[in-house]
Order: sequence, then C-alpha cells, then structure tokens
Amino acid sequence: MPIFLDTGNIDEIEKFMKMGIIRGVTTNPTILVKSSVTGGMDGVKQRAIEIAKLIDPYPLSVEVTNNDPDGMINQAREFSQWANNINIKITIHGPDGELDNLEAVHKLENEYNIRINVTAMMSAQQCFLASLAGATFVSLFGGRVNNMGYNCIDEIQKIRLLIDNFDLKSKIIIGSTREVLNVVEWLAAGAHIVTVTPHLLEGMIIHPYSKETVQQFLDDAKKI
Ligand code: E4P
Repeated sequence: MPIFLDTGNIDEIEKFMKMGIIRGVTTNPTILVKSSVTGGMDGVKQRAIEIAKLIDPYPLSVEVTNNDPDGMINQAREFSQWANNINIKITIHGPDGELDNLEAVHKLENEYNIRINVTAMMSAQQCFLASLAGATFVSLFGGRVNNMGYNCIDEIQKIRLLIDNFDLKSKIIIGSTREVLNVVEWLAAGAHIVTVTPHLLEGMIIHPYSKETVQQFLDDAKKI
C-alpha cells in the first residue's frame, strides 16, 4: 500500500482511484478546511463518510479535534463508527506537550479495537514510542522535518529498522510532501507509505520529455 492521497477533495480522490494508483487517504483539520469542508462536525462526518465509501476497502484517516483525553477517546469511538475503513488520527502529544495522548492510543487500540494513526511526529524516537503504544500507523512529517534543517531520510531509516527489529505492527506513513522527488526517495528509505498531495502525484506522472515524445509519435503517425 505505498501511496495514500493527502486530501479531502472528492474529485481528486475519484480521479486517482480510477487510475488505480492510491491505496488510502489521509486528512486532518487543515486539509479539510482547504478542501472546503464547513458545517462543523456534521460537515466532517459527511465528507468522511463520502470519502470512506469512495475508497472502500482502503483506509481513511480522520483526526480527532479534541485535546482532552476523554474527548479524544469519545471522538475516536464515534468517528470509527462512521465506516469500517476509517482509522483515527491522534497527535503524539498536545500543543503544550501534554502526555495524555499515548495512553489514549494504547487504550483505543487494545481495549476498543480501533485502528489509530499517531500523527504530527518529527522524529524516529516519537514514532518508536507511538509504535510501542500500539499504533497501527505512525505518521512522520517529512517536509516539516526537512524544513527544520534535518534530513527526514535518517529518521525514516531509523524507525523502519526499529519496527522491523522489534517486530512491531506499525506501518510508517510519511506525510508533509513538498516535492515530487519525496515520494520515491522516502519509500526507498524504508517508509511503508507516503501520503502525497494531488498536485505532487500528478507531477509524478507528467514529464516534459514524455510530452515531446508522445507528440512525435502522433505527428509521425499522420505520415504513415
Ligand atoms: C499527514 O498525514 C498530514 O496530513 C500532512 O501530510 C501534513 O502535511 P503538512 O506539513 O503539509 O501540513
């Protein structure tokens, strides 16, 4: 399942599903706002159900919007009922470094049997702990790591080694794509999945020299 689409835009999801090249979708509140979702939690529910149905049986990540432990657990339980293929994104910790989140992750995976995607992570050590807590997916934000002046490839290699060595179940998702090149480079470094924006996925397909070559074939076909 190497490529997920990082969007809440239905037309984009439909386009790449029809091509058969995506194996899941990731969202977060910022992505949903950019994808014109309005109407509060009802709007989120409506869009999530629509996407989940469109990509079934592939997974869709929907993020909790609550930062208190009970609130996170309640939302995770509620959102996971919207469709069978929905998994729940929970950030590694709160905005002030609150430590409740991994406990919620552990509880949701083990007591409630809900698949969790631990998100907003910037290092292999965060991913490792999220993985030990039982997360099904661990999301490292590659572009943000690189923008801080570190090479996320080092983090990808380390977390893949740890997951394999300790036989942990988590799949590594690298998000925060910034360049077309990121997708293949991050997969080659050991990521199980790269979640990519529609614009960059399109950029992976189209090449100027392919355009020129195709034009040559079309022009020559007329001369036959
Ligand atoms: C990953 O799951 C996130 O949705 C996303 O890739 C974050 O990317 P950003 O750094 O562009 O916000």
